[in-house]
Amino acid sequence: MDIIFHQKEKIFQINTENTSYLMAVADERYLGHLYYGKRMEDYHGFYLLRTEEKPFVPSINLREKSAFLDAFPQEYSTWGVGDYRESCLNVRNSDGCLGCELLFDSYRIIDGKPALKGLPATFCGESKGKTLEITCVDPVLSLKVILRYSIFEDSDAIARSAEIINESGQILHIEKALSACLDMDNEAFDMITLNGSWGRERRIVRRPASLGRQSAASVRGESSHQEHPFMALVTPGTDQTQGEVYAMHFVYSGNFMAMTEVTQFDSLRMVMGIHPDNFDWELKPGNHFQTPEVIMVYSDEGLGKMTRTYHDVYRNHLIRSPYLHRPRPILINNWEATYFDFDSDKLLDIAREAKKAGIEMLVMDDGWFGHRDNDDSSLGDWFVNENKIKGGLKKLVDDVQSEGLLFGLWFEPEMISPDSLLYKKHPEWVISIPGRVPTQIRCQYVLDLSRPEVVDYAYEAVASILRSADISYVKWDMNRQLCDIGSTYLNRKNQGELLHRYTLGVYKMQERLITEFPNLLLENCSGGGARFDPGMLYYSPQIWCSDDTDAIERLAIQEGTALVYPLSVMGAHVSDCPNHAVGRVTPFATRGHVALAGTFGYELDITKISDEDRAQVKLQTAMYHQYNDLIREGDYFRIASWQENHLYDCWQVVSKQKDETLVTYVQVLSQPNFRSRKIKLAGLDPKGVYKLEDTGKIYSGEMLMNAGFLIQRKMGDFISDLYHFKQINC
Ligand code: DGJ
Repeated sequence: MDIIFHQKEKIFQINTENTSYLMAVADERYLGHLYYGKRMEDYHGFYLLRTEEKPFVPSINLREKSAFLDAFPQEYSTWGVGDYRESCLNVRNSDGCLGCELLFDSYRIIDGKPALKGLPATFCGESKGKTLEITCVDPVLSLKVILRYSIFEDSDAIARSAEIINESGQILHIEKALSACLDMDNEAFDMITLNGSWGRERRIVRRPASLGRQSAASVRGESSHQEHPFMALVTPGTDQTQGEVYAMHFVYSGNFMAMTEVTQFDSLRMVMGIHPDNFDWELKPGNHFQTPEVIMVYSDEGLGKMTRTYHDVYRNHLIRSPYLHRPRPILINNWEATYFDFDSDKLLDIAREAKKAGIEMLVMDDGWFGHRDNDDSSLGDWFVNENKIKGGLKKLVDDVQSEGLLFGLWFEPEMISPDSLLYKKHPEWVISIPGRVPTQIRCQYVLDLSRPEVVDYAYEAVASILRSADISYVKWDMNRQLCDIGSTYLNRKNQGELLHRYTLGVYKMQERLITEFPNLLLENCSGGGARFDPGMLYYSPQIWCSDDTDAIERLAIQEGTALVYPLSVMGAHVSDCPNHAVGRVTPFATRGHVALAGTFGYELDITKISDEDRAQVKLQTAMYHQYNDLIREGDYFRIASWQENHLYDCWQVVSKQKDETLVTYVQVLSQPNFRSRKIKLAGLDPKGVYKLEDTGKIYSGEMLMNAGFLIQRKMGDFISDLYHFKQINC
C-alpha cells in the first residue's frame, strides 16, 4: 500500500496490494485520470491523457477549450465550461449562473483516514491506512474542492469523497455534488446493477453499457427497494473467476445516482453520488459541504474477487458493532406469527416454546404502542399499550428473561401517523408542501428530521424506552418512502437541502443510539430491505434483507445482496408455509439452510407449527451454532446461480485458513432421468486433504476445485443440503 506523487511527471500513484490508480496534472492544471487496474510499478502514463491529439472539430488550436475538455479524462468533472458529459459538480454563483472549472492546486498525503463529519464512512480500524488529498480550485468562484482517496493495507478498495469549500465572500449554491468519477475507454463493458421491488430486492441485472447515459438511482428519500447504490462495469465474458470489474458502491442511505455514459469517442464515464434532483445546498462564505464516500473496487479475477474485497472492507473498515465478530442471538420475531394481533400472554407462549428449541431472543414487532392494532395509527406515540402488554413493558421483558430469552423491540422512529397524539400536537413536524395535503403511504407521514427538535423527540422516544427495561436488540424500521418534499422549518432557499438533511438526521439518531447503548444489537430495516446500504451498516451490523421470506425467492435476493455484502449482515429468517409473500410450500430444512446464509432466526408462531417442524427448529439452532463462525467470518464463493441455470443454486464459504468449508446446494427444480451433478468448489488449499463430515470420505483440495464434487440426485423440488468439509492432517 502506498501513495506517491511523482513530482517531475506530475503523476499521482495510488497502489493497493493488487491495484494501481493513476492521475496526472495536465499543463493547464486540469486533473486527469490515467489508469485504474492491475497493480503496476511503472507510472509513466501521461500520454494516456491524449493531450497532443487533434480535437474532433476543425480547429487550429489543439487546446480549444470545449473540444479539449469534452474529451479529456477528468478526475472530477464539473458542469458549465465545455465538458458536456455527466458532471460531478454543479455550482450556481450569486448572479444565478451555473458554471465551475477546477484546476489543480496542491496535495498532501497523510497517514490514516480522516472521519467524515456526520456521515458514515470507512475507517482504518486495526490496519494502517493512507489518504491522498488533492486540492483543486475554481479561481473565479473562489471555490476549493478537496478530493480524498483513502486506502488500507489489508484491502484493494479505494474510498473516495469530495469536500467543497466556499472561500468567496458570496453565497454559492451547490446543485450537484457527486462523490466519484471514473473516466475510461469503453471496452464493450457490461453494466451490472441491483434492481428490484418490495419483496424482490437486489436482483442482479446485467446489460451492455451502450451509447448515452444509463443509470441506477433513487429519488425516494432512501436507497430503496427499486434500485441500489451499486454499479459495476465488467469486460466481456466476465464471470465469477475471470474478467475485469470496476465497481462503485455508495456509503449513503438517501437519494443517489450512479450513471454510466458512453460517449461519442467510445470513452466511458462512471459517476456516483447524491442524486441531484431536488438537491440545492446553500454554501455560505467559509462553509464546507462534504459528500458521502464511494467505495471503488477493481478486480482482474472476475466478480468473485470483487465480492470478497467488498465483504472484507465492510467487515474490517465499516461496521463498528461489538456484534460484528460474535454469533448473533437466534431470534424469533412475532411479525409473521401474529401481525398486530398479540398480547403479552401470546408472546410468552411463543417464548416458552422457543426456548425449548434453542432460540435465544424474542423480538416484539410492530403493534405494541399507542392504540395500534393495524397500520393506520399511533406512530409517534411511543408508549406501551397496556391492554396488550399487561403490566407494562418492563414486566414483559422481565418475564421473557425469566423464560431464559433475551428481549428485542421494534420501532419506527422516523414516522408519524395522522391518527396520533403527536400529529395533533405537531402537525408542522411532518414533511409536506404548504397548501398541499401530504400523500400518505401505508397510512403514515414522515417526520421532518431537518428540524433539530424532531430528531431530539424521536431519539428520546426510543432511548427512554430502552432506559426503562433490559432490551438487547432494536429493529429500526422505516415503512415508507418520501414525497411532498417541503419543510416548515427550512427557509425558501434551503428547501433543496431537506432530503440530505433528513438522511443526516437518521444518522445523527443512530449515532446517539449506539453511543448511549453500546451493547445494543441494532438491526436496520425498511419495509423489508429498502434501506439496505453501506451507510446503515456503519450503525448496525445487520439489516433485514426482505419481507419475502420464501426460501426460493430468497435465493435470488440473497445472491444479489451477497454480491457486495458479507453474509453476516443479511437479516434472514425461517418462516412458516405456505409462505406469506408467495404462497409457496418448501421443506422446513431448505428454509433453514437458506436462512443460515444470513443472521438466522425465526418469523413464525412456534406454538402452532407441527411437532415435526418444531423438532427441526432444535436441530437448526444447533446447526447455526456449529457453522456461524465460518459463515460470519469466511470467504464467500458463488458456485452456481439458479437465476442463470434455472435449476439449482450453490454457494460456498471457506474459512480464512482454508481448513474448513461449507457448501450449500439447493435443487430448485428436479429433473427426470438425471444422475449426480458435478460442481467445482473454490478457495481451498489445492494441496490440502479434506474430509466430508457426513460420509467421512476424503478428497484433495485440488480434486474438489479442478475436477469437482458429485452432488447426488435428489427427488423433488426445493430440496437442499449442506456439505461440510474439514481439512485433515495426513
Ligand atoms: C416491515 C418489516 O420489514 C416487517 O418485518 C415488519 O417489521 C413490518 N414492517 C411491521 O410494520
